Amino acid sequence: MTTHPVTQAAMSSFASASDPRLAQVMTLLVKHLHAFVTESKLTKEEWMKGLEFLTQSAAITDSERNEFSLLSDILGISSIVDVVSQPVGGTSSSVLGPFHSHDSRLQPNGIDLTGDQAGDRTWLHGCVLDQQGQAIENAEIDFWQNADNGLYPAQDSAQDPHNLRCKIKCEADGSFNLLTIRPHPYTVPTDGPVGALLAASQRSIWRPAHYHLIVSAPGYIGLVTELFPQNSEYIDNDTVFGVREGLIVPFVKSSNTEIAQRYGLDHPFYEVRFDFKLVKQA
Ligand code: BEZ
Ligand code: FE
Repeated sequence: MTTHPVTQAAMSSFASASDPRLAQVMTLLVKHLHAFVTESKLTKEEWMKGLEFLTQSAAITDSERNEFSLLSDILGISSIVDVVSQPVGGTSSSVLGPFHSHDSRLQPNGIDLTGDQAGDRTWLHGCVLDQQGQAIENAEIDFWQNADNGLYPAQDSAQDPHNLRCKIKCEADGSFNLLTIRPHPYTVPTDGPVGALLAASQRSIWRPAHYHLIVSAPGYIGLVTELFPQNSEYIDNDTVFGVREGLIVPFVKSSNTEIAQRYGLDHPFYEVRFDFKLVKQA
């Protein structure tokens, strides 16, 4: 198919950007957006509706809530960016989501995050390793999840803002562990234009249960990822497409007496073991 002169001109208009990468990305963006308009024979009314959608997204966006991130998530763009930017050989990355906090407190390795809240006790442990399976020194874990009612602290004023989140410095052998609860499936925010789009498209609003983790170490490429309990509801239909096969983990019922004693657990608890692999920076 021949390229329309308008498309050609709009693509070429970015050719002399001082940053060659900007020129490349914008040229390709114009190319593919024009192809979308051409192929779908988009009407003026439809394009106006699209602009109205973006205007509504801007209106609802603030420092706490970003409708554009959510749009990126439900279109699978966040996930496909993860996939194409993923360094080869490490643990798969997954979406960050809107509930990460830069203010998480550094806690001792082995911290009990549960207090007296409801939820199935779960001992999460593992190691941070390099591609050869050797322990990485000075690794750090940043961990967060939702509570037994399915909500994150930002959605639930009854929760302490630090509930079920922490940073941990791993041991010299790369190991970390903490006591938490089993996470729960969760619906993405539906009170904005993205929610309306999901409803109009008869799409699920659910994410399967997950833990969020950011794993980092000096000299290694940082990893933003998630762990999903095997058999979690919605595991095959995550509305933000974050599930990767290697990130699905068994929650094993354990009666390990040493761990039970350490945390004062009087009944079997879940145990999850996961080793993260980081890739060296070039
Ligand atoms: C979450 O994991 O909490 C999340 C991720 C993407 C969009 C909305 C929520
Ligand atoms: Fe989440």
